[in-house]
Amino acid sequence: MAAAMALLPLLLFFLLCAAPAPSQAGDPFAYFDWEVTYLTAQPLGVPQKVIAINGQFPGPPLNVTTNWNVVVNVHNRLDEPLLLTWNGIQHRKNSWQDGVPGTNCPIPPSWNWTYRFQVKDQVGSFFYFPSAAALLHRAAGGYGGIVVNNRDVIPIPFPFPDGGDLTLLIGDWYARGHKDLRRSLDGGTPLGAPDGVLFNGLGPFRYNDSVVPPGITYERINVEPGRTYRLRVHNVGVSTSLNFRIQGHNLLLVETEGSYTSQQNYSNMDIHVGQSYSFLVTMDQNASTDYYVVASARFVDASTVDKLTGVAVLRYSNSQGPASGPLPDAPDDQYDTAFSINQARSIRWNVTASGARPNPQGSFHYGDITVTDVYLLQSRPPELIDGKLRSTINGISYITPSTPLILAQLFNVPGVYKLDFPNHPMNRLPKVDTSIINGTYKGFMEIIFQNNATTVQSYHLDGYAFFVVGMDYGLWTENSRGTYNKWDGVARSTIQVFPGAWTAVLVFLDNAGVWNLRVENLDSWYLGQEVYISVVNPEDSSDKTVLPLPDNTIFCGALSSLQKEQSHRFQYSGASSVGKIVSLVGFFMVWLAASWL
Ligand SMILES: *[C@@H]1O[C@H](CO)[C@@H](O)[C@H](O)[C@H]1NC(C)=O
Ligand SMILES: *[C@@H]1O[C@H](CO)[C@@H](O)[C@H](O)[C@H]1NC(C)=O
Ligand SMILES: *[C@@H]1O[C@H](CO)[C@@H](O)[C@H](O)[C@H]1NC(C)=O
Ligand SMILES: *[C@@H]1O[C@H](CO)[C@@H](O)[C@H](O)[C@H]1NC(C)=O
Ligand SMILES: *[C@@H]1O[C@H](CO)[C@@H](O)[C@H](O)[C@H]1NC(C)=O
Ligand SMILES: *[C@@H]1O[C@H](CO)[C@@H](O)[C@H](O)[C@H]1NC(C)=O
Ligand SMILES: *[C@@H]1O[C@H](CO)[C@@H](O)[C@H](O)[C@H]1NC(C)=O
Ligand SMILES: *[C@@H]1O[C@H](CO)[C@@H](O)[C@H](O)[C@H]1NC(C)=O
Repeated sequence: MAAAMALLPLLLFFLLCAAPAPSQAGDPFAYFDWEVTYLTAQPLGVPQKVIAINGQFPGPPLNVTTNWNVVVNVHNRLDEPLLLTWNGIQHRKNSWQDGVPGTNCPIPPSWNWTYRFQVKDQVGSFFYFPSAAALLHRAAGGYGGIVVNNRDVIPIPFPFPDGGDLTLLIGDWYARGHKDLRRSLDGGTPLGAPDGVLFNGLGPFRYNDSVVPPGITYERINVEPGRTYRLRVHNVGVSTSLNFRIQGHNLLLVETEGSYTSQQNYSNMDIHVGQSYSFLVTMDQNASTDYYVVASARFVDASTVDKLTGVAVLRYSNSQGPASGPLPDAPDDQYDTAFSINQARSIRWNVTASGARPNPQGSFHYGDITVTDVYLLQSRPPELIDGKLRSTINGISYITPSTPLILAQLFNVPGVYKLDFPNHPMNRLPKVDTSIINGTYKGFMEIIFQNNATTVQSYHLDGYAFFVVGMDYGLWTENSRGTYNKWDGVARSTIQVFPGAWTAVLVFLDNAGVWNLRVENLDSWYLGQEVYISVVNPEDSSDKTVLPLPDNTIFCGALSSLQKEQSHRFQYSGASSVGKIVSLVGFFMVWLAASWL
C-alpha cells in the first residue's frame, strides 16, 4: 500500500507527459538534422580524426531568432557516447535539453536523439560543442556557432551591418587525437603546450616560412571595401587564452554572450576559453594588400608563441596582393595580466539598449537586489587525490555519477549526489565527490571565483547570464564588495579568473533546474573542476517552473531498466497513446515495486 502511494506522483507525472508541451505555440520552429561522424582532416598538416557534423568541421551554424523553437535531431555515428551542449543558451525551465552529463544520459553510438528547446528571450552569439566531459570531444572539434537574431520589432543598438555576419571559431589545437589526450590525463600527465591555433578548423596562413610549414589550408575572409561586418568570435579551444586582432582595423565591441555592450573600439581583444564576442569591423583601409587576422596565445611560454599563433587572411574584393611582413603586435606583456584585467574591466553593459525584450537591459537593477547566498569558490593547481591527478573547487573534485542528477532527483534515486557543497574553501584534504550546490529558487547568489592556480581559467554557468561585478588581484575579502560595479557590469555566461586573482558575479536564480557550473578549460574540467547548482521551486511541482520530462528521455545508470531499445522505441505522440501510456505506467510500477521491495 505504502509503495503504491509512493508511486502515485510517478503516475501523475506520466499522465502529464501526455499533455502537449506548453507555451510554444505561435513561435516558429527551426529543424536541423545532424550526423555526427569522424572525418580525417589535417588542419596543421598532419592527418588526424576530427569530429564533423554533416561532414563539416566546424559544424554548421545554428542561425535562429529570439523565441524560436529549435529542433536538432542528432545522429551519433561516433564509436563513443555523445552529448552536445549549447553554450550560453538558457533553456528556461528546461534543463532537460542542456546536454551535460548531469542532465542527460549520453546518446549511445548509432542512436539518435532529438533536442527540442526554445531560445526564449535571448539574443546574441553563442556556440555549441560536444560536452560529455569525460570524453574530451571538444578537443577533436564538433563545435559550431549559434546566432540568435533580434526580432524585427526590437532594434539593435547600432546600424545594421551592411556586410552581414561572419562567425569565427578560434581555439588552440592538438595534433594528437582526443583519446590520446585522455590517456595522458588519465596517466597523470598534463597535456602540455598545444600544437597550434585554428581559425574555423583551419591552420595558419604562411606568414613566415620558417614558422609555418608549406601546404596548410588557411581561412580567408572575403569582404567588400567600405562595408561593415559583424564578426562573432568564439574561443572554442581546449585551454589557451587568445589575443584576437586584425591588422590595420579597429574592433568595435558591441556584444558579449547575449548582452549589448557600451560600444568601444579596441585594437585587440583577449578572448578566454569559452567566451564569445561580437565586433563591428568596417573595411575602411586601402586594398593594396590583404590583411592578417590573428589569434595568438596569451600567458604561455615565449618559445611557444610562434607555434601558438593562428593566422587567417582578410581579403578585400579589390585586393592588390597578399599580406606580407610581420604580424600586428600582440600586447607586449606575455606574462603580465595587468593589460588583460584592465581590458576586461573596461567592458560595460549598455544599460539603455534593448536586448531581446523591448525594455532597456538596465531596467533590471541588479545592484539594488539583496544577496541571499554567497559562494566563495576556490581553485588550486591540479593535485593528486588517491594517486590520481584531479582538479578541485573548494577541495572537491566532481565525479560524474552514472545516473544524471536531474533524473535521480525526479525519480528519487537515493545516494546519487549530495546537496552539501561547501560555500567556502575548506581547510581539509581534497577529495572526489558528487556534491552539488543547493540553490534557492529566486534567490540572488553572489559567486566569487578565487583562482589559486597558475593559469587563467574561465568559468561558465549554464541556464543563466550572471552580472560581472568585480575582478581584482589578491584574496577576495568582504571589503572587496566596496569595489563592485553595481550599475553597468555586463551580463554574460563565461568569465575569466586570472591566476592569483578573483572575479565576482551575481546571479538571480529564477530558472529552475539542475545547472552546470564548470571551468571551460577542457583539461581542468575533465579532471573534475565543476559543480552543479540545483534550483528547485518548493512551491510548485507542476510544469509552471519546470517543463515535464521529455518523452524521448534516455535512461541510464540506476534507471537504465526504463530504457527501451531505440529501434523498438515507444512513440508517445498524440492523445490516442494515452491508453498505451497508462499500461506502460503499469509496467513501470511492477518493475519499480519489484526492484524496491
Ligand atoms: C541568419 O538569419 C537571418 C534572419 O533570418 C538572415 O538575415 C541571415 O542572412 C542568416 N545568416 C546566415 C549566415 O545564414
Ligand atoms: C530519431 O530520428 C528519427 C527520424 O530520423 C525520429 O523519428 C526519432 O524521433 C528520433 N529519435 C529520438 C529519440 O529523438
Ligand atoms: C620569421 O620567424 C623567425 C622566428 O620567429 C624570425 O626569427 C624571423 O625574423 C621571422 N621572419 C620575418 C620575415 O619576419
Ligand atoms: C571606432 O573606429 C572607427 C574607425 O575604424 C570610427 O569610425 C568610429 O567612430 C570609432 N567608434 C568609436 C565608438 O570610437
Ligand atoms: C595603404 O595603407 C597602407 C597601410 O595603412 C599604407 O602603408 C599604404 O601606403 C597605403 N597605400 C596606398 C596606395 O594608399
Ligand atoms: C547604447 O544603446 C543605445 C540604443 O539604445 C545606442 O543608441 C547607444 O549608441 C549605445 N551606447 C553605447 C555607448 O554603446
Ligand atoms: C535545499 O534548500 C531548500 C530551500 O531552498 C531547503 O528547503 C532544503 O532543505 C535544502 N536541502 C538540503 C539537503 O540542504
Ligand atoms: C595560493 O594561495 C597561497 C596561500 O594563500 C598563496 O601563498 C599563493 O600566493 C597563492 N597563489 C596564487 C597563484 O594565487
